[in-house]
Amino acid sequence: MTTLLEVSGVSVSFDGFKAINNLSFQIGNAEMRAIIGPNGAGKTTFMDIITGKTRPDQGRVIWGEKSVSLLKMSEAQIARAGVGRKFQRPTVFEDQTVFDNLLMALKNDRSPWRVLMFKPKFRDLGKAEELASEIGLSDEIHRKAGELSHGQKQWLEIGMLLAQEPRLLLVDEPAAGMTLAEREHTTDILVEAAKTRAVVVVEHDMEFVRRLNCKVTVLHEGSVLAEGSLDHVTANQDVIDVYLGR
Ligand SMILES: Nc1ncnc2c1ncn2[C@@H]1O[C@H](COP(=O)(O)OP(=O)(O)OP(=O)(O)O)[C@@H](O)[C@H]1O
Ligand SMILES: [Mg+2]
Repeated sequence: MTTLLEVSGVSVSFDGFKAINNLSFQIGNAEMRAIIGPNGAGKTTFMDIITGKTRPDQGRVIWGEKSVSLLKMSEAQIARAGVGRKFQRPTVFEDQTVFDNLLMALKNDRSPWRVLMFKPKFRDLGKAEELASEIGLSDEIHRKAGELSHGQKQWLEIGMLLAQEPRLLLVDEPAAGMTLAEREHTTDILVEAAKTRAVVVVEHDMEFVRRLNCKVTVLHEGSVLAEGSLDHVTANQDVIDVYLGR
């Protein structure tokens, strides 16, 4: 598997406190990865660094086959380069239908070939339907987003991110506030998405992480404490001491 993202030797301090401490991390082109670790371990800060929201004091963040540095790019440029991020509060347009939300997400596509398409609209209609099906909202496609359940809104937002065709999707605590059935469906969507792109999921819910069935990176005090299968990392005494055993 070729590397899509390489973080090496990254550190960032807030008022003298090292939130990320010499962190190194790699993810392959179509890889699912879970990140776990105690509160304050630096998981969200790690995502802030990749998306350009937080600038590290030290280290490198290298992206894609051309090995460009994300640290030299603005947040908007990083998003255009193919990094999508899902925030916890869904940012769907409540007064618009599921279909229109997906359609609008597609229209933000600025790739030149799309502008040159003979019938972009026709293609987008089909694509929006396809996305609705991918996120399991085909039956809700003409409902207003504001009428959806919490879980359904989260899926819609994932669909809107997938509409942008990111090469890397970052998802921070997707299971929060969801029912078990919603959490299971969320896993299915993310597992499917990771077949064609890299997906990094931060989550405290270990059953959720287990269903992702992927390599797990454990962060602690801004560094990697352990990495491997979920069974491997949960058997690690350091991981038990700082996280699982609390
Ligand atoms: N912008 C900021 N300014 C000051 N301190 C910050 C900032 N962002 C994060 N921190 C601190 O950095 C540390 C890491 O925070 P971070 O949010 O990355 O942890 P986390 O692993 O996502 O935790 P949680 O599981 O609770 O979401 C914490 O001590 C936090 O208070
Ligand atoms: Mg966090």
